[in-house]
Amino acid sequence: MIQLNRLTKVYPATVNKNRLKMRALDSVDLEINPGEVVGLLGPNGAGKTTLIRILATLVLPTAGDAYVAGFDVVKQPRGVRSAVGLVAGGERAFYWRLSLKNNLEFFGALQGLGPHVLRDRIEEVLARVGLQEGRNLKFMKCSTGMRKKLNIARALLNDPLVYLMDEPTSGIDPLSAKDIRNSYF
Ligand SMILES: Nc1ncnc2c1ncn2[C@@H]1O[C@H](COP(=O)(O)OP(=O)(O)OP(=O)(O)O)[C@@H](O)[C@H]1O
Ligand SMILES: [Mg+2]
Repeated sequence: MIQLNRLTKVYPATVNKNRLKMRALDSVDLEINPGEVVGLLGPNGAGKTTLIRILATLVLPTAGDAYVAGFDVVKQPRGVRSAVGLVAGGERAFYWRLSLKNNLEFFGALQGLGPHVLRDRIEEVLARVGLQEGRNLKFMKCSTGMRKKLNIARALLNDPLVYLMDEPTSGIDPLSAKDIRNSYF
């Protein structure tokens, strides 16, 4: 389902006016099969977010190959995007003046879901993350945890083959986090 061959990412970096290179990923090999749940563990700066961003086609690798659901992240980004649901931090990832429901309508439409399908799907995913009652609240008026839950709801919308999650339960209270781990994935 996910295959990495010698995946490498080098970012340009400037330290004290010196141009350096930051090797965030160094020749990573990894194979993840359908049905498997894999967690990436490592200290801050280890490259976990970089790896997820490459798999989501948001960052280009410097060398090596990465395939998601058989699609090459560099040569077939559209195929990859249709196969993945991404849950990543980013308070900027939603429209602040739109309600939670309107945000999901917008992103669902971008994912190619028609209005009728979308209406039912939105109710389903809002219920799944426990946000039904907040559906008409503007994003900017939501708590950190509610924003995180909306992030998860958005990734569930098009029922993707692969979920990519970067710290999906940080900022969520322990009971809700436990509930999320037990029931969604
Ligand atoms: N856009 C960027 N430009 C330059 N360097 C970057 C960029 N993004 C990440 N890096 C560097 O790459 C390294 C890996 O960062 P990354 O965010 O992938 O780590 P992480 O494992 O997700 O860390 P954390 O646990 O803190 O979230 C870090 O040294 C970081 O400074
Ligand atoms: Mg990170």
